[in-house]
Amino acid sequence: MARSARFTLHPGFAVGAVDPRLFGSFVEHLGRCVYTGIHEPDHPTADEAGLRGDVLDLIRELGVTAIRYPGGNFVSGYKWEDSVGPVDERPRRLDLAWRSTESNRFGLSEFIDFLKKVGPQAEPMMAVNLGTRGVAEALELQEYANHPSGTALSDLRAAHGDKDPFGIRLWCLGNEMDGPWQTGHKTAEEYGRLAATTARAMRQIDPDVELVACGSSGQSMDTFAAWEATVLAETYDVVDYVSLHAYYEELDGDRDSFLASAVDMESFIENVVATCDHVGARLKSKKKLHLSFDEWNVWYLSKTEAEVSALDWPQAPRLLEDNYTVTDAVVFGSLLIALLRHADRVTVACLAQLVNVIAPILTEPGGPAWRQTTFFPFAQASRHGRGQVLDVRVDSPTYTTAKYGEVPLLHATAVHGEDGTVTVFAVNRDQHQPLPLEVALHGLEVTEVVEHSALADADPEARNTLAEPERVLPHDVPDTALADGTLSAVLEPLSWNVIRLR
Ligand code: AHR
Repeated sequence: MARSARFTLHPGFAVGAVDPRLFGSFVEHLGRCVYTGIHEPDHPTADEAGLRGDVLDLIRELGVTAIRYPGGNFVSGYKWEDSVGPVDERPRRLDLAWRSTESNRFGLSEFIDFLKKVGPQAEPMMAVNLGTRGVAEALELQEYANHPSGTALSDLRAAHGDKDPFGIRLWCLGNEMDGPWQTGHKTAEEYGRLAATTARAMRQIDPDVELVACGSSGQSMDTFAAWEATVLAETYDVVDYVSLHAYYEELDGDRDSFLASAVDMESFIENVVATCDHVGARLKSKKKLHLSFDEWNVWYLSKTEAEVSALDWPQAPRLLEDNYTVTDAVVFGSLLIALLRHADRVTVACLAQLVNVIAPILTEPGGPAWRQTTFFPFAQASRHGRGQVLDVRVDSPTYTTAKYGEVPLLHATAVHGEDGTVTVFAVNRDQHQPLPLEVALHGLEVTEVVEHSALADADPEARNTLAEPERVLPHDVPDTALADGTLSAVLEPLSWNVIRLR
């Protein structure tokens, strides 16, 4: 038989509904994410608040939902009080995480205003500092942000010009507290106790807050899984989510393994689910925890350490400004597929980050903003990946990777929309050969291919730059057909594909 891949779809076999928060992102005070990224008062497109209009337009097009703020490693030294009140009176501070100087000219109120301008689908996901600070400061921030009025901190917010509370529901209890690089790094026992105490106290102010406990900052951490088990033994009843973070890069020219990065991401998710359920079983709890994959992306992390240690406390330096290739975008799309395939338990996910810093959008100060290659898979998945994820079990030829052994060439998922449409998201990991695909559709009332869009290029290193901002764009694939309940398509070598049926 010719080399090809296939799978079957049936609406009776659904994984779960996609939570809109799966298409979240992340704004950290790091490099130029905030300053000259989203905020640049002197820019020709800036509004009265200093927000870049060209960047806001791209963020809306990207379709992000929950936006995590203000870090990241930054949050472990964050003093929220510095970031509110009259801008000219705000202190400048050392940011230990990124060896930078923080001006605080963009702060909490500006972030909430930014979200409103992004649109109604955007909601804050606020992190509290459990590195250098603790329960008291978390409660003060919550009171300042959310209490309607009549207390010192809620009245202070009103005096600062924000009469209406910010209504922040989703909160992260610190960031990557398992990481030795984290300011205020803790053992699992120390963090578990602090997170549980903070969570209980925050629920005394508002029982309906949704809380995320820090899981491991990566599956390769020595403490992975033991960390989750210990932290969750303390926090299981008082948190809603445990976090996962993962970044992938091509190392030593091993592109085959890089293209299979989602194998690691899926096993990470499944291992955390197993650990959560193990703790739940030990506690005889009926509650199921959800997963917040609140940092994920392709990141050439191996270059970053030297970049950061060379800094001498500049303001908004160029940091982590990875310029993504077509290959990176295909891996990125595969990571999105991995998240969708686990939509039953992963109900929050944040693409780290939003602008300039390992981001789908790049900007030049005083100049243009443009879409990276990774912009397209995210925007397409956010727009068309809404509904029920259908169970996809691929029958695919495999290839051999140094890191993950035999891996299917096809990575795929499908989403059944409320309007009856079906969207297939698929990646061909084969660097050289096209992959014919057949999908048998049962019980789905679709008769027509609306679109087959692909991201692929003869040059796998092609990227969008200041000089050539539209070098890489998705293109239409002709000849994809739907007949007698079978979808037939050919996936180009090294490609990300979106096939929409109605
Ligand atoms: O997203 C960049 C950094 O990666 C974040 O600050 C940190 O949480 C993670 O290690």
